[in-house]
Amino acid sequence: MELRHLRYFVAVAEERNFTRAAERLHIAQPPLSRQIQQLEEYLGVALIEKGSRPLKLTEAGQFFLAHAKPLLDQVRDLKAMTQRVGKLERTLSVGFVASTLYGLLPDIIRRYRERHPEVEVTLQEMTTVDQLKALKEGRIDVGFGRIKSEDPSIRRIRLRDERMVVALPSGHRLAQRQEGLRLVDLLHEPLLVYPKAPRPSFADQVLAAFSEANLMPDHVTEVRELQIAMGLVAAGQGISIVPESVQGMHHRNVAYRAIEDKHAFSPVLFSVRHMDRSPELENMLAAVYSIYDDMGLHYEKEGL
Ligand code: BEZ
Repeated sequence: MELRHLRYFVAVAEERNFTRAAERLHIAQPPLSRQIQQLEEYLGVALIEKGSRPLKLTEAGQFFLAHAKPLLDQVRDLKAMTQRVGKLERTLSVGFVASTLYGLLPDIIRRYRERHPEVEVTLQEMTTVDQLKALKEGRIDVGFGRIKSEDPSIRRIRLRDERMVVALPSGHRLAQRQEGLRLVDLLHEPLLVYPKAPRPSFADQVLAAFSEANLMPDHVTEVRELQIAMGLVAAGQGISIVPESVQGMHHRNVAYRAIEDKHAFSPVLFSVRHMDRSPELENMLAAVYSIYDDMGLHYEKEGL
């Protein structure tokens, strides 16, 4: 049995159709059918129910699919990681969600650069969902994001939980209050959430904080990204809920207030390819924790 057989079978099983699978694999349909037949002969069991349309997997087929996919993920990771080990110059590509740029990301990257000047660090802004894809394709080595995923080929470390705050147009009646606000105080304000896509996103975390408190805001507008939401808040178009680190993004016409509800937090996640234990990643994690220590932040240390 060759890796090719696994790749072909996964494509057929996912597409549930030989023609579409052949297109996805850029091969003709007859050789694809022959390869699947060869695989079934080698295993001595049927993987696909004969004559089923759309195509249905047998119990053995479902078992094979569940195990073939993680194997292919591991092979892909092995390629990206071996290429990295083999490179003379050390590199580390970091994906990050925009909000971290206004918080601790710059300190963390500076600390890492000071400690490891030999490593060439590159930074790319992208949503958490895009980070997962970029990790799998080897375009980044680590992602700093906020949205949980159950993808077995990605390892996630929850670095800390960050409180959410509300961004209000300065002069807004709620900005005059000295004490913190509760989500219930915000229900009738036009709420700007971001990013619109890809989902799930921070927008869903904000809406989940409301629904966990059994609340539903009256008027929600989705906007493309954090910077747009903040610009619209500054223009008096509505309010937005953001991680507290965004307060580092000083905007002349925006005031921030704490939110007191206990559900109103967003995790900061460190995501890497599951098998990747490179020293660059260990060192990046150490840089994060050393900045947390300097700032007296609460966190639970986890190793790679
Ligand atoms: C944080 O805010 O905890 C954080 C930001 C960027 C990278 C890592 C952690």
